[in-house]
Amino acid sequence: MQEQKDLIRITEEFLADTIDYPKLRKAAEEYKTFLYQLSGCDLDNETGRSDIQLSSGKALGTFWAALCIDDFIRTRQFIRGIDQAIREKLQHNDSIHVLYAGSGPFATLLLPLILRHSRERVKYTLLDINPFSLEILNRLIARLELQEYKLEVICADATQYRLPNDTPDIIVSETMQNALAKEQQVPIFIQLMRQAKPDTVFIPEKIQLSIGLRKDGDLLELPFHERYKKVDTVFEVSKEALHFALQSKATAPGEIIFPENSLTLEKHALKDYSQLVLLTEIKVFRNERINLNESGLTTPLIINNIPENVKQSITVLSQYKISTEPKLDNQIVVG
Ligand SMILES: C[S@@+](CC[C@H](N)C(=O)[O-])C[C@H]1O[C@@H](n2cnc3c(N)ncnc32)[C@H](O)[C@@H]1O
Repeated sequence: MQEQKDLIRITEEFLADTIDYPKLRKAAEEYKTFLYQLSGCDLDNETGRSDIQLSSGKALGTFWAALCIDDFIRTRQFIRGIDQAIREKLQHNDSIHVLYAGSGPFATLLLPLILRHSRERVKYTLLDINPFSLEILNRLIARLELQEYKLEVICADATQYRLPNDTPDIIVSETMQNALAKEQQVPIFIQLMRQAKPDTVFIPEKIQLSIGLRKDGDLLELPFHERYKKVDTVFEVSKEALHFALQSKATAPGEIIFPENSLTLEKHALKDYSQLVLLTEIKVFRNERINLNESGLTTPLIINNIPENVKQSITVLSQYKISTEPKLDNQIVVG
């Protein structure tokens, strides 16, 4: 079938072992055009642009969710990471179940892999809270003639979702922005980790937020790693790090109280730097990572200018909080 062949061909570049930036950018553009054409839908309207606001953050509207494809390093690293996780699981299991929580209108990160893996051995659940996105996804599935694959599309809030008895072996969610602000990656992972099997793989495997320093002056000439200095990690999303939250009696993710972190920076360490920043790093799966500034998801976020009246040190108190606008709250104490 021609559409299936096109999808395989267009997405080959995402699975190539070395990154050829111009080729990858072109592949992402072609992938996007292909998906828009195949779905035959106009997403740029009021329904498409409307985010859904929930008590633990927002869910991006269909138009915005579709745009995520443009962040092509993100898209590549996730596709490769999910592919490897599926291969690994299939080595030890006859059949596996993959849950994609927050598929958006195109199931962008999984769609290229469905045709590349056994239709008898892999079952997929594609879940999103946005009915307009799922209307488009269902149309795409029909146009790609994927009916013979084990695919279930579910409209649900992933922060409330009860996993089925056939517990997923792999759970994928990319519902985040840099600094884990605004969207619902953390409450979604907590809800799903609480119910998953001990060996369920979560993708991304690990997200780390670190406090860092940004150099003074005009930085355009400097390579990125010389502009910023990572000081210490203050919040981590992974099965290991969220262990305490999973045992918490709090029923809603918003009730979970994360530990407060205190980081002291001596005055001499601040020399040459003018701003405090929050740095995001993502381990998607195994060696597939999204390093600092490689994607919109890992762009540094400026917290504050370094105060001028520092005598000995500054202390950054930080705590991740889930609310209608989740974020790492921080407070700077000058000493
Ligand atoms: C950042 S977009 C990513 C879309 C697509 N997965 C991709 O990577 O290109 C996040 C998607 O997650 C969905 N989402 C966010 N919060 C959700 C929730 N609580 N339950 C279900 N879906 C959610 C949004 O509707 C949106 O489609």
